[in-house]
Amino acid sequence: MPLVTSTEMFRKAYEGGYAIGAFNVNNMEIVQGITEAAGELNAPLILQVSAGARKYANHTFLMKLVEAALIEQPNIPICLHLDHGADFDICKSCVDGGFTSVMIDGSKYPFEENIELTRRVVEYAHEHGVVVEGELGKLEGVEDEVKVAEGMGSYTRPEEVEEFVTRTGVDSLAIAIGTSHGAYKFKPGTKPQLRFDILEEVSRRLPGFPIVLHGASSVPQEYVKIINENGGNMPDAIGVPEDMLRQAARMAVCKINIDSDLRLGLTAGIRQVMKEHPEYFDPREYLKVGRANVKSVVAHKIKEVLGCEGKAAECMESLK
Ligand code: G3H
Ligand code: 13P
Ligand code: ZN
Repeated sequence: MPLVTSTEMFRKAYEGGYAIGAFNVNNMEIVQGITEAAGELNAPLILQVSAGARKYANHTFLMKLVEAALIEQPNIPICLHLDHGADFDICKSCVDGGFTSVMIDGSKYPFEENIELTRRVVEYAHEHGVVVEGELGKLEGVEDEVKVAEGMGSYTRPEEVEEFVTRTGVDSLAIAIGTSHGAYKFKPGTKPQLRFDILEEVSRRLPGFPIVLHGASSVPQEYVKIINENGGNMPDAIGVPEDMLRQAARMAVCKINIDSDLRLGLTAGIRQVMKEHPEYFDPREYLKVGRANVKSVVAHKIKEVLGCEGKAAECMESLK
Protein backbone atom coordinates (compact mmCIF):
# COMPACT_ATOMS: atom_id res chain seq x y z
CA MET A 1 0.00 0.00 0.00
CA PRO A 2 1.23 3.56 -0.61
CA LEU A 3 2.38 5.89 2.16
CA VAL A 4 -0.50 7.26 4.23
CA THR A 5 -0.97 10.42 6.28
CA SER A 6 -1.25 10.15 10.06
CA THR A 7 -4.89 11.34 10.13
CA GLU A 8 -6.55 7.96 10.59
CA MET A 9 -3.77 6.70 12.88
CA PHE A 10 -4.23 9.65 15.23
CA ARG A 11 -8.02 9.38 15.23
CA LYS A 12 -7.84 5.73 16.25
CA ALA A 13 -4.98 6.29 18.70
CA TYR A 14 -6.87 9.11 20.43
CA GLU A 15 -10.04 7.03 20.75
CA GLY A 16 -8.15 3.91 21.82
CA GLY A 17 -5.82 5.53 24.37
CA TYR A 18 -2.66 4.46 22.59
CA ALA A 19 0.10 6.21 20.61
CA ILE A 20 1.88 5.74 17.31
CA GLY A 21 5.66 5.42 17.42
CA ALA A 22 7.53 7.93 15.27
CA PHE A 23 11.03 6.57 14.73
CA ASN A 24 13.91 8.48 13.11
CA VAL A 25 15.58 6.85 10.13
CA ASN A 26 19.05 7.51 8.73
CA ASN A 27 20.14 4.36 6.92
CA MET A 28 19.07 0.94 5.66
CA GLU A 29 19.66 -0.99 8.87
CA ILE A 30 17.52 1.41 10.87
CA VAL A 31 14.68 1.32 8.32
CA GLN A 32 14.82 -2.48 8.27
CA GLY A 33 14.95 -2.91 12.06
CA ILE A 34 11.99 -0.58 12.64
CA THR A 35 9.75 -1.83 9.86
CA GLU A 36 10.38 -5.53 10.54
CA ALA A 37 9.32 -5.05 14.17
CA ALA A 38 6.19 -3.09 13.22
CA GLY A 39 5.32 -5.62 10.49
CA GLU A 40 5.61 -8.60 12.85
CA LEU A 41 3.48 -6.88 15.48
CA ASN A 42 0.92 -5.42 13.05
CA ALA A 43 1.55 -1.93 14.32
CA PRO A 44 0.85 1.36 12.50
CA LEU A 45 4.07 3.28 11.98
CA ILE A 46 5.54 6.74 11.40
CA LEU A 47 9.04 6.90 9.93
CA GLN A 48 10.57 10.31 10.35
CA VAL A 49 13.47 12.01 8.66
CA SER A 50 15.36 15.01 10.06
CA ALA A 51 17.23 17.65 8.06
CA GLY A 52 20.42 15.96 9.30
CA ALA A 53 19.24 12.59 7.98
CA ARG A 54 18.51 14.13 4.59
CA LYS A 55 21.96 15.68 4.55
CA TYR A 56 23.57 12.37 5.54
CA ALA A 57 21.73 9.88 3.35
CA ASN A 58 20.10 12.22 0.79
CA HIS A 59 16.40 12.50 0.03
CA THR A 60 16.29 9.99 -2.80
CA PHE A 61 18.09 7.22 -0.92
CA LEU A 62 15.80 7.65 2.07
CA MET A 63 12.69 7.69 -0.15
CA LYS A 64 13.77 4.50 -1.89
CA LEU A 65 14.54 2.76 1.41
CA VAL A 66 11.07 3.65 2.66
CA GLU A 67 9.51 2.51 -0.62
CA ALA A 68 11.31 -0.82 -0.19
CA ALA A 69 9.86 -1.10 3.31
CA LEU A 70 6.35 -0.53 1.91
CA ILE A 71 6.86 -3.50 -0.39
CA GLU A 72 8.30 -5.69 2.37
CA GLN A 73 5.58 -4.77 4.89
CA PRO A 74 2.36 -4.50 2.89
CA ASN A 75 0.04 -5.05 5.84
CA ILE A 76 0.85 -2.03 7.98
CA PRO A 77 0.15 1.65 7.29
CA ILE A 78 3.33 3.73 7.12
CA CYS A 79 3.45 7.53 7.24
CA LEU A 80 6.63 9.37 6.16
CA HIS A 81 7.21 12.52 8.18
CA LEU A 82 9.71 15.40 8.14
CA ASP A 83 11.02 15.85 11.70
CA HIS A 84 11.73 19.44 12.86
CA GLY A 85 11.38 21.25 9.55
CA ALA A 86 13.15 24.56 10.19
CA ASP A 87 11.67 26.66 7.38
CA PHE A 88 9.11 26.75 4.58
CA ASP A 89 11.59 25.53 1.95
CA ILE A 90 12.48 22.23 3.58
CA CYS A 91 8.79 21.53 4.23
CA LYS A 92 7.95 22.31 0.60
CA SER A 93 10.79 20.13 -0.62
CA CYS A 94 9.49 17.17 1.43
CA VAL A 95 5.87 17.74 0.35
CA ASP A 96 7.01 17.88 -3.29
CA GLY A 97 9.29 14.89 -2.74
CA GLY A 98 6.60 12.46 -1.57
CA PHE A 99 6.38 12.80 2.24
CA THR A 100 2.87 12.48 3.67
CA SER A 101 3.48 14.57 6.79
CA VAL A 102 5.78 17.45 7.75
CA MET A 103 6.65 19.22 10.95
CA ILE A 104 7.26 22.94 10.83
CA ASP A 105 9.16 23.78 13.99
CA GLY A 106 8.51 27.47 14.56
CA SER A 107 8.99 27.18 18.31
CA LYS A 108 12.18 29.25 18.10
CA TYR A 109 10.15 32.27 16.91
CA PRO A 110 7.83 34.58 18.82
CA PHE A 111 4.17 33.48 18.85
CA GLU A 112 2.96 35.62 15.91
CA GLU A 113 5.90 34.63 13.68
CA ASN A 114 5.41 30.96 14.57
CA ILE A 115 1.74 31.28 13.55
CA GLU A 116 2.59 33.04 10.28
CA LEU A 117 5.22 30.49 9.24
CA THR A 118 3.15 27.49 10.31
CA ARG A 119 0.04 28.79 8.53
CA ARG A 120 2.02 29.18 5.30
CA VAL A 121 3.31 25.60 5.49
CA VAL A 122 -0.18 24.27 6.31
CA GLU A 123 -1.63 26.07 3.29
CA TYR A 124 0.92 24.53 0.94
CA ALA A 125 0.90 21.06 2.52
CA HIS A 126 -2.89 20.75 2.64
CA GLU A 127 -3.15 21.74 -1.03
CA HIS A 128 -1.01 18.66 -1.68
CA GLY A 129 -2.77 16.25 0.69
CA VAL A 130 0.00 16.37 3.31
CA VAL A 131 -0.61 16.87 7.04
CA VAL A 132 1.33 19.23 9.32
CA GLU A 133 2.64 19.11 12.89
CA GLY A 134 3.35 22.45 14.61
CA GLU A 135 5.13 23.16 17.89
CA LEU A 136 4.55 25.44 20.86
CA GLY A 137 7.10 25.54 23.68
CA LYS A 138 10.81 24.65 23.49
CA LEU A 139 12.53 21.37 24.30
CA GLU A 140 16.15 21.37 25.39
CA GLY A 141 18.54 19.13 23.53
CA VAL A 142 21.88 18.59 21.91
CA GLU A 143 21.17 16.82 18.63
CA ASP A 144 22.98 17.83 15.43
CA GLU A 145 20.29 19.96 13.87
CA VAL A 146 18.12 20.67 16.89
CA LYS A 147 20.00 22.70 19.46
CA VAL A 148 18.45 24.38 22.46
CA ALA A 149 20.91 25.08 25.27
CA GLU A 150 20.40 23.83 28.82
CA GLY A 151 18.13 26.20 30.72
CA MET A 152 16.74 27.71 27.50
CA GLY A 153 13.82 25.35 27.09
CA SER A 154 10.32 26.52 28.00
CA TYR A 155 7.08 24.71 28.73
CA THR A 156 4.12 25.11 26.40
CA ARG A 157 1.65 27.76 27.59
CA PRO A 158 -1.79 26.12 27.47
CA GLU A 159 -3.50 29.50 27.07
CA GLU A 160 -1.90 29.79 23.60
CA VAL A 161 -2.89 26.47 22.08
CA GLU A 162 -6.44 27.16 20.87
CA GLU A 163 -5.44 30.32 19.03
CA PHE A 164 -2.40 28.60 17.53
CA VAL A 165 -4.35 25.61 16.25
CA THR A 166 -7.27 27.67 14.96
CA ARG A 167 -5.18 30.27 13.16
CA THR A 168 -2.65 27.85 11.64
CA GLY A 169 -4.90 24.88 10.79
CA VAL A 170 -2.26 22.36 11.96
CA ASP A 171 -3.24 18.70 12.19
CA SER A 172 -1.25 17.92 15.36
CA LEU A 173 0.68 19.87 17.97
CA ALA A 174 4.01 19.12 19.66
CA ILE A 175 4.21 20.44 23.21
CA ALA A 176 7.00 20.85 25.76
CA ILE A 177 6.26 19.26 29.15
CA GLY A 178 9.77 18.50 30.39
CA THR A 179 11.23 15.97 27.94
CA SER A 180 14.35 16.88 25.96
CA HIS A 181 16.25 15.56 22.97
CA GLY A 182 19.23 13.24 23.35
CA ALA A 183 20.42 10.76 25.96
CA TYR A 184 20.84 13.10 28.97
CA LYS A 185 17.34 14.15 29.86
CA PHE A 186 17.47 14.47 33.65
CA LYS A 187 20.23 15.26 36.14
CA PRO A 188 21.60 12.14 37.89
CA GLY A 189 20.14 11.72 41.35
CA THR A 190 17.04 13.81 40.56
CA LYS A 191 13.56 12.39 40.05
CA PRO A 192 12.44 12.63 36.41
CA GLN A 193 9.32 14.75 36.20
CA LEU A 194 6.96 15.67 33.39
CA ARG A 195 4.30 18.37 33.54
CA PHE A 196 1.21 16.21 33.05
CA ASP A 197 -0.86 19.13 34.33
CA ILE A 198 0.11 21.05 31.16
CA LEU A 199 -0.80 18.10 28.95
CA GLU A 200 -4.13 17.79 30.78
CA GLU A 201 -4.92 21.48 30.34
CA VAL A 202 -3.90 21.45 26.66
CA SER A 203 -6.20 18.50 25.95
CA ARG A 204 -9.05 20.14 27.89
CA ARG A 205 -8.70 23.15 25.60
CA LEU A 206 -8.32 21.02 22.44
CA PRO A 207 -10.69 18.08 22.87
CA GLY A 208 -9.95 15.21 20.50
CA PHE A 209 -6.87 16.95 19.08
CA PRO A 210 -3.69 14.85 18.65
CA ILE A 211 -0.69 15.93 20.73
CA VAL A 212 2.92 14.96 19.96
CA LEU A 213 5.65 14.17 22.48
CA HIS A 214 9.22 14.79 21.35
CA GLY A 215 12.30 13.71 23.27
CA ALA A 216 10.58 10.51 24.38
CA SER A 217 13.47 8.05 24.46
CA SER A 218 13.77 6.10 27.68
CA VAL A 219 17.53 5.47 27.27
CA PRO A 220 17.64 1.71 28.02
CA GLN A 221 20.29 1.18 30.66
CA GLU A 222 21.26 -2.24 29.29
CA TYR A 223 22.51 -0.55 26.09
CA VAL A 224 24.22 2.27 27.98
CA LYS A 225 26.03 -0.42 30.02
CA ILE A 226 27.12 -2.35 26.91
CA ILE A 227 28.37 0.88 25.32
CA ASN A 228 30.32 1.88 28.44
CA GLU A 229 31.79 -1.61 28.86
CA ASN A 230 32.96 -1.74 25.28
CA GLY A 231 34.94 1.44 24.86
CA GLY A 232 32.11 4.00 24.98
CA ASN A 233 31.76 6.90 27.36
CA MET A 234 28.19 7.88 28.20
CA PRO A 235 28.14 8.52 31.93
CA ASP A 236 24.78 9.45 33.49
CA ALA A 237 22.71 8.91 30.36
CA ILE A 238 19.10 9.04 31.58
CA GLY A 239 15.78 8.91 29.72
CA VAL A 240 12.05 9.27 30.33
CA PRO A 241 10.65 6.49 32.54
CA GLU A 242 8.43 4.18 30.50
CA ASP A 243 5.45 4.43 32.84
CA MET A 244 5.33 8.18 32.10
CA LEU A 245 5.28 7.49 28.37
CA ARG A 246 2.47 4.97 28.84
CA GLN A 247 0.55 7.57 30.81
CA ALA A 248 1.04 10.15 28.04
CA ALA A 249 -0.12 7.60 25.44
CA ARG A 250 -3.33 6.96 27.40
CA MET A 251 -3.94 10.72 27.43
CA ALA A 252 -4.00 13.00 24.33
CA VAL A 253 -0.51 12.10 23.11
CA CYS A 254 -0.96 10.24 19.80
CA LYS A 255 2.63 10.42 18.48
CA ILE A 256 5.73 9.56 20.51
CA ASN A 257 9.11 10.46 18.96
CA ILE A 258 12.03 8.10 19.44
CA ASP A 259 15.51 8.48 18.00
CA SER A 260 18.11 8.24 20.77
CA ASP A 261 17.03 4.72 21.84
CA LEU A 262 17.61 3.47 18.29
CA ARG A 263 21.05 5.09 18.26
CA LEU A 264 21.89 3.43 21.58
CA GLY A 265 20.79 0.00 20.36
CA LEU A 266 22.72 0.31 17.12
CA THR A 267 25.85 1.65 18.82
CA ALA A 268 25.76 -0.99 21.57
CA GLY A 269 25.56 -3.78 18.99
CA ILE A 270 28.42 -2.39 16.93
CA ARG A 271 30.66 -1.71 19.93
CA GLN A 272 30.04 -5.16 21.39
CA VAL A 273 30.94 -7.01 18.19
CA MET A 274 33.98 -4.84 17.57
CA LYS A 275 35.28 -5.40 21.09
CA GLU A 276 34.61 -9.15 21.05
CA HIS A 277 35.94 -9.64 17.53
CA PRO A 278 38.77 -7.22 16.81
CA GLU A 279 39.60 -9.35 13.78
CA TYR A 280 36.28 -8.55 12.00
CA PHE A 281 36.30 -6.05 9.18
CA ASP A 282 33.13 -7.04 7.34
CA PRO A 283 30.58 -4.30 8.18
CA ARG A 284 27.74 -6.82 7.96
CA GLU A 285 29.08 -8.62 11.03
CA TYR A 286 28.54 -5.66 13.32
CA LEU A 287 25.69 -3.89 11.50
CA LYS A 288 23.46 -6.97 11.68
CA VAL A 289 23.80 -7.01 15.48
CA GLY A 290 23.05 -3.27 15.63
CA ARG A 291 20.05 -3.78 13.37
CA ALA A 292 18.72 -6.60 15.57
CA ASN A 293 18.95 -4.25 18.57
CA VAL A 294 17.01 -1.55 16.68
CA LYS A 295 14.33 -4.13 15.95
CA SER A 296 14.08 -5.23 19.55
CA VAL A 297 13.93 -1.59 20.80
CA VAL A 298 10.99 -0.95 18.47
CA ALA A 299 9.21 -4.20 19.36
CA HIS A 300 9.54 -3.36 23.04
CA LYS A 301 8.11 0.16 22.48
CA ILE A 302 5.16 -1.15 20.49
CA LYS A 303 4.30 -3.80 23.07
CA GLU A 304 5.15 -2.16 26.37
CA VAL A 305 4.97 1.60 25.82
CA LEU A 306 2.86 2.68 22.85
CA GLY A 307 0.06 0.10 23.11
CA CYS A 308 -0.33 -0.02 19.31
CA GLU A 309 0.34 -3.74 18.77
CA GLY A 310 -2.27 -5.23 16.43
CA LYS A 311 -3.74 -1.82 15.55
CA ALA A 312 -2.56 -1.71 11.91
CA ALA A 313 -5.88 -2.85 10.42
CA GLU A 314 -8.07 -0.38 12.32
CA CYS A 315 -5.81 2.48 11.23
CA MET A 316 -6.41 1.52 7.60
CA GLU A 317 -10.23 1.18 7.80
CA SER A 318 -11.13 4.32 5.90
CA LEU A 319 -8.26 3.86 3.45
CA LYS A 320 -9.52 0.66 1.86
O1 G3H B 1 14.81 15.59 17.30
C1 G3H B 1 15.92 15.31 16.85
C2 G3H B 1 16.16 13.98 16.24
O2 G3H B 1 16.73 13.12 17.19
C3 G3H B 1 16.97 14.11 14.98
O3 G3H B 1 18.31 14.29 15.26
O4 G3H B 1 18.98 16.15 13.73
O5 G3H B 1 20.69 14.59 14.70
O6 G3H B 1 19.10 13.79 12.93
P1 G3H B 1 19.35 14.74 14.08
P1 13P C 1 14.90 11.43 21.57
O1 13P C 1 16.21 12.12 21.48
O2 13P C 1 14.40 11.38 22.99
O3 13P C 1 14.88 10.08 20.95
O4 13P C 1 13.82 12.33 20.78
C1 13P C 1 13.67 12.23 19.39
C2 13P C 1 12.81 13.29 18.84
O5 13P C 1 12.10 14.00 19.51
C3 13P C 1 12.82 13.45 17.37
O6 13P C 1 12.04 14.53 16.96
ZN1 ZN D 1 12.06 16.20 18.31
